[in-house]
Amino acid sequence: MKGKGFEGKNVYITGGSSGIGLATAELLAERGCNVIVFARGRERLEQALERISSRAASGSQRFAFRQLDITDPDQVDRVMGEAVDDFGPPDILINSAGRALPDYFENISYRQLDDSMKLHLYGNWSAIKALLPHLKERGGHIVNVSSVLGFMGVFGYSDYAASKFALFGLTEVLKSELKPHGVRVSILCPPDTDTPGFEVENRNKPPETVAVSEGGGLMQPEEVARALIKGLEKGRFFIGPGSARMLYFMKRHFPWVVELAMDHAIKKVRKAG
Ligand SMILES: NC(=O)c1ccc[n+]([C@@H]2O[C@H](COP(=O)([O-])OP(=O)(O)OC[C@H]3O[C@@H](n4cnc5c(N)ncnc54)[C@H](OP(=O)(O)O)[C@@H]3O)[C@@H](O)[C@H]2O)c1
Repeated sequence: MKGKGFEGKNVYITGGSSGIGLATAELLAERGCNVIVFARGRERLEQALERISSRAASGSQRFAFRQLDITDPDQVDRVMGEAVDDFGPPDILINSAGRALPDYFENISYRQLDDSMKLHLYGNWSAIKALLPHLKERGGHIVNVSSVLGFMGVFGYSDYAASKFALFGLTEVLKSELKPHGVRVSILCPPDTDTPGFEVENRNKPPETVAVSEGGGLMQPEEVARALIKGLEKGRFFIGPGSARMLYFMKRHFPWVVELAMDHAIKKVRKAG
C-alpha cells in the first residue's frame, strides 16, 4: 500500500456482512477508510452497512455494499467492475467469504467439496483477477482469509482444509509474483472464532473434531480483525491471531508433537464412546 496509514483508503471486503469480515470493516471505518462490503444476503448487508457507517471517523468517508456470489465468475467481474466505477478503485482487498461444514469424510459429498473449492479458491481467484489491475496501479494489498486448517489437516475438515490449503498455495505464489508490482499479499489464518459462521459450523461437528479443537480457545472477531490490521500495517505475509502463530511454528518444526496431541485427543473421545 503506497502512503502511510489507512485514512482515505478504499477497502473492498468479500464476506463483509458478518463475522471476521464485518469486524474488520468496522475497525477500518474507525481508522478513516472508505469501505465497501460484498456478500449474497441483502438483509445482512443492510444491517452491516449501518454498523460500519456508525463507526466512521469522519463525515467524508464513504460506505457501500453490493450483493455478490463470489462463486459465479461472471457475476464477480460485473459487480466488481461496477464497484470500481461507482465507489472508486481498491487500495486493499480482503477476501473473507467462507464457511465450514465439518463431518466424517464418508459423509462429505463431491458436491460439498466442489462448493468449498468454488468458494475458497475459485471465488477468491476471481475477485483478485477482477481487481488486480487497480491494485497494481495503486500499490495495493490483498489479504486472503484462510484458516489454521490452511496449514494443518484436522479430523472432520476434509473438503474445508483441502480448499484452504489451496488458497494458502495461491497466496504464496501471488506474494512472489506481485512483489515486483508493489502489491503486498497476506494470508490470515484464524483459529476458532466466535462468529455466526462458527455457530453453524458447530451444529454437526464430529466429537473427535470437538476434542482436537479443545484447548485452542475461542477468539472474538474483533481480536482477529485487530490482528489482521496489525498485519496489514507491518506488511506481514503470515498473519496468525491467537494460538495460530504457535500452531504454525509447531506444525513446521515439530509436526510429530502436533500429530501426537491430535491422536491422543481422538483416542480419548473414542474410548469414552
Ligand atoms: N469463525 C471461525 O472459527 C473461522 C476460523 C478460521 C477461518 N475462518 C474463515 O474466516 C472467514 C470468515 O468466516 P466467519 O466465521 O466470519 O463467517 P460468517 O460469520 O459466516 O461470515 C461469512 C461471510 O461470507 C459471506 N459469504 C458466504 N458465501 C459467500 C459467497 N458465495 N459469496 C459471497 N459472500 C459469501 C457471508 O454472507 P452471505 O452468506 O450472505 O453470502 C458472510 O458475509 C471464512 O473464510 C472462514 O472460512 C473462520
